[in-house]
Amino acid sequence: MKKTLTHVVPIRWDDRKSEIVWLDNAQIPWKETYISSRDLDRLIKAIKGLEIRGAPILGEAGAYGTAMIANNSSNSAETILKDVMRLGSRLADARPTAVNLSWGVHRIQDSVRRAVENGEKPVNIKELAISEAKKVQEENVSATHKIGEQGKRLIHDGDVLVTVCNAGTLACDGLGTSTAPMRAAWADGIRFRVLVTYTAPLYQGARLTAWELNKDGIPVNVITDNMAGHLMREEKATAVWAGADRILGNKGAESGTVYNKIGTYGLALMADSLRREGTGVNMYVAAPTSTIDPRSTVQDVKIEQRKPKEVEYLFNGVRIVPEGVGVLNPAFDRTPPNLVSAIVTELGIAKQPYNASIPALLAKEGSMVKL
Ligand code: MRU
Repeated sequence: MKKTLTHVVPIRWDDRKSEIVWLDNAQIPWKETYISSRDLDRLIKAIKGLEIRGAPILGEAGAYGTAMIANNSSNSAETILKDVMRLGSRLADARPTAVNLSWGVHRIQDSVRRAVENGEKPVNIKELAISEAKKVQEENVSATHKIGEQGKRLIHDGDVLVTVCNAGTLACDGLGTSTAPMRAAWADGIRFRVLVTYTAPLYQGARLTAWELNKDGIPVNVITDNMAGHLMREEKATAVWAGADRILGNKGAESGTVYNKIGTYGLALMADSLRREGTGVNMYVAAPTSTIDPRSTVQDVKIEQRKPKEVEYLFNGVRIVPEGVGVLNPAFDRTPPNLVSAIVTELGIAKQPYNASIPALLAKEGSMVKL
């Protein structure tokens, strides 16, 4: 590999200052700027503004943010618990679709509750919250390496892979999720190319995934979103690799439904259509088990609607939509399970029927969520 991304730590806890430090994703690829704060409102603003983004990193931000709430709280165990419950739910609501955010918040809320019930002193409750948040990050990083090992066997010499948005280090820590099998296969000497879709309107594919893969020395072509169908056929794509913001994992027919960046459903439909033509483009989704939501149904999941401005204006501030014309801006879409060839997690690869394979994964030791 060329220069790798091992120097990038997208988020961390600064013990000396008792602050959260994050790499501002909104400024990549122009600048690598680290921002730090101990202020909850600033953290929420960073999450809403996509300085901190991507499902697994939102899990880490939820965990560190809740630990920060505990740390900023008073010296009474009851008040710490009250603050992490009340302010933690504000944090969890900052972005509604990625289940990892509330998962990270709940994990620290549970650890604070246990510590309070065990009669720990306030100073210990705060330390336990911070160390639990660091554990969340370690588990996330380790999961990305395992996803890489699990998924690399699905990548072969000569493959042409298509990806959407950014499910790399910036979004997931470690090796990323959809990028982890690519990186692991590349390190094993497997040679392939990647087509990265722009991912309008915020261009996470062009700005972030292209930046990451280029640093790894993996051949990458950025394409606009509307080129995908044509180029998947012309360039003989072999697989789409996407991350996920939430995967339904109940025992019902919706199990295996994937919520991910807007454009994923379209790619899944194109892959399915090309499979019918006999070209065999697989639709792979890579995610840690913390992204699986065993409780919600399609009716429960809220798709985040973002500000019209993101569609009305280009990144350089030029308005491209005529004044007075309405726009729509859903940030995510829903891909039904029948379009998903496999879901690669740190504990193994789930295949259809997902209402059997996902519960089996969640029953394994080490699963980050339980049915
Ligand atoms: O709006 P974003 O940039 O947070 O969206 C991120 C994605 O949709 C990713 O593909 C997803 O979180 C999966 S892995 C990080």
